[in-house]
Amino acid sequence: MQFLETAERIAREAGAVLLHHLRQGIAFDLKGDFDLVTAADKASEKLVVERLTAHFPEHGIIAEEGGGHSSSSEYRWYVDPLDGTTNFAHGYPMFNVTLALQKGTEMIAGVIYDPLHDEMFRAGLGSGAYLNDGRISISGARRLQDSLVSTGFPSHNRAKNFNIHFYHQMAMSTHGVRRGGSAAIDLAYVACGRLDAFWEFGLKPWDLAAGALIVTEAGGLATDMKGDPHKIGSPHLLCTNGHVHSETLQQFSEIFRGEMRHPMPPVH
Ligand code: IPD
Ligand code: CA
Ligand code: CA
Repeated sequence: MQFLETAERIAREAGAVLLHHLRQGIAFDLKGDFDLVTAADKASEKLVVERLTAHFPEHGIIAEEGGGHSSSSEYRWYVDPLDGTTNFAHGYPMFNVTLALQKGTEMIAGVIYDPLHDEMFRAGLGSGAYLNDGRISISGARRLQDSLVSTGFPSHNRAKNFNIHFYHQMAMSTHGVRRGGSAAIDLAYVACGRLDAFWEFGLKPWDLAAGALIVTEAGGLATDMKGDPHKIGSPHLLCTNGHVHSETLQQFSEIFRGEMRHPMPPVH
């Protein structure tokens, strides 16, 4: 698909921009109390928006740092020029560039590029999911007790985020919960079977648009926290290999009702 190939080329180029900035050393500003932004976010976004606009002048673009533009076209790109900014700013090696294309009401293409590992995850609607040249698929884990899972905590409004309760319950019922700091890479890892599930409350469309498509094209499931199919614009996402989905939803519904299987231990 022409869109996918172009998105891949642009993500690769933006990844090189990120690596260049990483080698030069990173200074950051704050968008909110703990919400970092670096020169690399801005430089990567400028490049991505310029390239997309040159290739597809009629398409709309929603980009995290505000460099996009609206359009009456049925095509709309979602751009996260640097997903994992906090990691990047500290030199923690987990970040990526991610782009997704919506046509009408469907997401039709998505890429997630991790420049440090030179890993390009991609999917087109109906044509499967790939990591570099090889097709990928979700893991075979059938039970949470055999699973490695991951979650995230947004940097905005973090005092109101109740995910720590979900974190604790899931930590008690799986091999462990990772908190990698890059939602798109977490989703890519569910798609290729390195993780069995990922969930997060309060994501933005550019964090998850490509990843949710890549997971479902790899054979997994994407829903909200109650089990309804994931919709574009929904901020709460649970993606799994499909096999552990209902068990996860069951645990989540208990937590929403305040029924904790594993009470938090007292601090002595
Ligand atoms: C963030 C990362 C993080 C997730 C946050 C996102 P950013 O994106 O994906 O893992 O927990 O919700 O906002 O700000 O680094 O692009
Ligand atoms: Ca992000
Ligand atoms: Ca970002």
